[in-house]
Amino acid sequence: MRLSYFHSPDRVPAEGMGAAAVVIDVLRATTTMAWALHHGAEAVQAFADLAALDAAAQSWPAERCLRAGERGGQKLEGFDLGNSPLAVTADVVSGRRIFMSTTNGTRALDRVQQAPLLLTCALANRSAVAQRLMDHQPATVWVVGSGWEGAYSLEDSLAAGALVDALLGQQGSTSSALLQLCGNDEAAAAHALWLQWQGQPEQALRLASHGQRLQRLGDHDADLACCAAVDSLTVVPVQSEPGVLRSS
Ligand code: MLT
Repeated sequence: MRLSYFHSPDRVPAEGMGAAAVVIDVLRATTTMAWALHHGAEAVQAFADLAALDAAAQSWPAERCLRAGERGGQKLEGFDLGNSPLAVTADVVSGRRIFMSTTNGTRALDRVQQAPLLLTCALANRSAVAQRLMDHQPATVWVVGSGWEGAYSLEDSLAAGALVDALLGQQGSTSSALLQLCGNDEAAAAHALWLQWQGQPEQALRLASHGQRLQRLGDHDADLACCAAVDSLTVVPVQSEPGVLRSS
């Protein structure tokens, strides 16, 4: 298995596709998706385009439909939910399909929608995602950070490094193991970032520019704590049909 990390959808190669793709958006889309599916949502259907989201949601039974999303970190007008992982509680989402659009995370999903195996990952479920990759043993894994409007994000790279570390497992971060696993410099650099911050992930999220943006926008302390909770979930969101993620 060779894992390559791309820090934003714009960095994904124009040609080809990984045998597996893993989309990361720690603050907050893939953390929220994992918690929603953990709490019994029937599925999360991701849309980069809001008009397409509205059309799909309108054709879904209203009692089993929720619209969730943000732009710039702020809840979209007329939507049921923003993008807080704390809002997708079982009493709100159980049995319902969440039609979701976010600033960057759903765009990253769109970019690798054709991957034969597409998973979403956050710090919360990185070990469960690593185990699923080890079970499948794809030859190539493209890990795509959502970033922020094309720019590098500390938190997504941190989670990519955490995923690399989980895949290294017992081998540890020996040079030979890293050489065998990492398919590009970004993957090795993400792992080094994880080694630096693994003991204090929430501090890393508070240092990140989007973590600072969320704190400026309002009371997001609990969101940051939730998004920093490493291995707090075992759910693995898997794309079951284009744009539709289900727990598996
Ligand atoms: C994103 O898509 O960039 C994030 O999910 C934004 C957010 O939820 O604050």
